[in-house]
This record gives sequence, structure tokens and C-alpha cells, in this order.
Amino acid sequence: MASLDRKPTLVMGARGNVGRFVLRRLLDGDLPVRASARRPEPGSFPDGVEVFAADLTDPESLRPAFEGAGQVFLYSDRESVGGVVQTACAAGVERLVLLSSGSVIHPGSAGNPITERLRRIEDAYAAAGDVRVVPIRPLVLATNALSWAYLLRATGSLPLYQPDALTAPIHEQDVAAVACAALTGAVTPAVSGLLTGPDRMSQRDQVAAIGRAVGAHMPLKELSRDAALEQFSQFMPSEDAEAVLRFLDDAAAGNSPRACTVRDVLGRPAIGFDRWAADHVDDFR
Ligand SMILES: NC(=O)c1ccc[n+]([C@@H]2O[C@H](COP(=O)([O-])OP(=O)(O)OC[C@H]3O[C@@H](n4cnc5c(N)ncnc54)[C@H](OP(=O)(O)O)[C@@H]3O)[C@@H](O)[C@H]2O)c1
Repeated sequence: MASLDRKPTLVMGARGNVGRFVLRRLLDGDLPVRASARRPEPGSFPDGVEVFAADLTDPESLRPAFEGAGQVFLYSDRESVGGVVQTACAAGVERLVLLSSGSVIHPGSAGNPITERLRRIEDAYAAAGDVRVVPIRPLVLATNALSWAYLLRATGSLPLYQPDALTAPIHEQDVAAVACAALTGAVTPAVSGLLTGPDRMSQRDQVAAIGRAVGAHMPLKELSRDAALEQFSQFMPSEDAEAVLRFLDDAAAGNSPRACTVRDVLGRPAIGFDRWAADHVDDFR
């Protein structure tokens, strides 16, 4: 990783699935870092890291965290773009690395409400000007499978919609590694390319990979579209639940690709789903 003899990097959402690995990689590279959460709790960050309470929707809270930082890793939030950009400019932040989504540049996802919401955020950052914004664009996060652990515990089997839909889920550590490349290196178009795992795999095979890692059989129950809509709507607004089903319908129709961006940016292959499952055994026990 390139050395930063310059200002520290602020990692917002540093307890998030991706954010925590952004923080860890920067620390492993001996780079100057700060971490933030909306409500940081003692003991939830590595020793020695300077921690801030910062909420994207509250520009006043951003000021102390941004002051003196050279670059910021942050999550997408609809309402906050103007305040974030203004505060970043006033504080002298040079680069915002925004966790966005590959769906924004994947033609097959155009029109999906989740895609369009994230596109509006990217567009708002681009229109705000004055500070360089670098989007990071994973298409399907492997951590989506963490929701299966809850369903398995709750029902003893895994109710799945479109079990044969093929996607190429990406390990959160690879997303974080590409984000770190964008935070610490020269910004090239490749860092904002479509990010996927190395192989397309059906949901059914992903469950089997988790079962192998855990050493347990995980029985599937195929869900109808109506039943899946009802299930997803328990955890998210029904508009978003419908949007997720549309992503799965597209994947079942063969429209969820794999890409080589991780290799292009990092010079090594993306981490496969078997390794993701092995890394998350404790989440499924
Ligand atoms: N699911 C997919 O397949 C997929 C595909 C492409 C892109 N994405 C994007 O990936 C992201 C999810 O990544 P993840 O799994 O790492 O998320 P996560 O584990 O749920 O963490 C989200 C983080 O966002 C921070 N956050 C939320 N609202 C905030 C605010 N107002 N101000 C400051 N920080 C805030 C939270 O920080 P606190 O500690 O303060 O709570 C939290 O650490 C989403 O933005 C999603 O759109 C997902």
C-alpha cells in the first residue's frame, strides 16, 4: 500500500461490514487513520485509533472528524450530500471514497428503485463539485448471505426465492481493499469499476458452500414470489423488498455478471465464496 506522509484518513461507518476492513487495512499499512460511528461505544474500535462521533446527516458532527483529514471513506446516504461536501471542502478534505453500488453502472440493473436511489446519490456528489468523489461499486455483497443465518435459526430450514439465480458475490475484504486503493493511491477509472467475486454461483450452491464450511446440512425451501415479498417486507420497506426480488429475477435470467476489477486494481484474483463461508462459520453456528 502506498505510504501516506500526509493527512490521516477518516473511516466512517468503521464498524460496518466493509468499513471495519477499510480501517483494518489502513492500520495494517501503518497509515494514519481516524474512525467514526454515529454513536461510538468504548471498546468497539482497535486500541490507539482516534474515534469520532459523526453522522452524515448532521454536518456539525462531521466538522471535528473532517478537520485535518485528507480523505474520507463513507457510506451512501440520500439526504446528506450537500452538508457532507460543504463540510469536507471547508475542512480541506481532498477525496471522498463513497461506497456506492455496481448496479449504477450495470445496464441490466437500470430502473431498479434501489439502483436509481444510489445513482441519485452519486449524481448529487458529482454535481456538488469542489471535492473529488470516487465511487466504489460492488454489485452483490457476499454479506447478503448473513441474513440466511437468522432465517435458518428461526425456521430450521432456509426459505429462498430463485435458488438457482446466479450471482458473483464479492467478499467485503475485497471491497475494502479496492476502497483502500482509492484512498491511498492514484485514482484510476478501474477503482470505480464493477466489483464482483471471481465466479458466478447459484444461491443453492452458496448455501451448500456455507453448509460445508459449517459441517451441517442446510435444507432449502423454495419460496414463491408472493411469499418472498412477504418475507423480505418484514425486514425492509415493501418498495425495497420488490426491488430486491427484481435483482433476483434478473440474476435468474442470467443478468448478474462477473467482472475482473479486483484483479485489475489489486493484481490478484478476487476471494471466492468458499473462503467467505469459511471466514463466517461463526455467524452460522
Ligand atoms: N447488499 C448488496 O449486495 C449491496 C450491493 C452494492 C452496494 N451495497 C451498499 O453497501 C452498503 C452496505 O455495506 P455494509 O454491509 O458494510 O453495511 P453495514 O455493515 O450495514 O454498515 C453500514 C454502516 O453505515 C454507517 N452509517 C449508516 N448511516 C450513517 C450515517 N447517517 N452517518 C454515518 N454513518 C452511517 C453505519 O455506521 P454506525 O456505526 O454509525 O451505525 C454502519 O457502520 C449499503 O450502502 C449498500 O447500498 C450493497
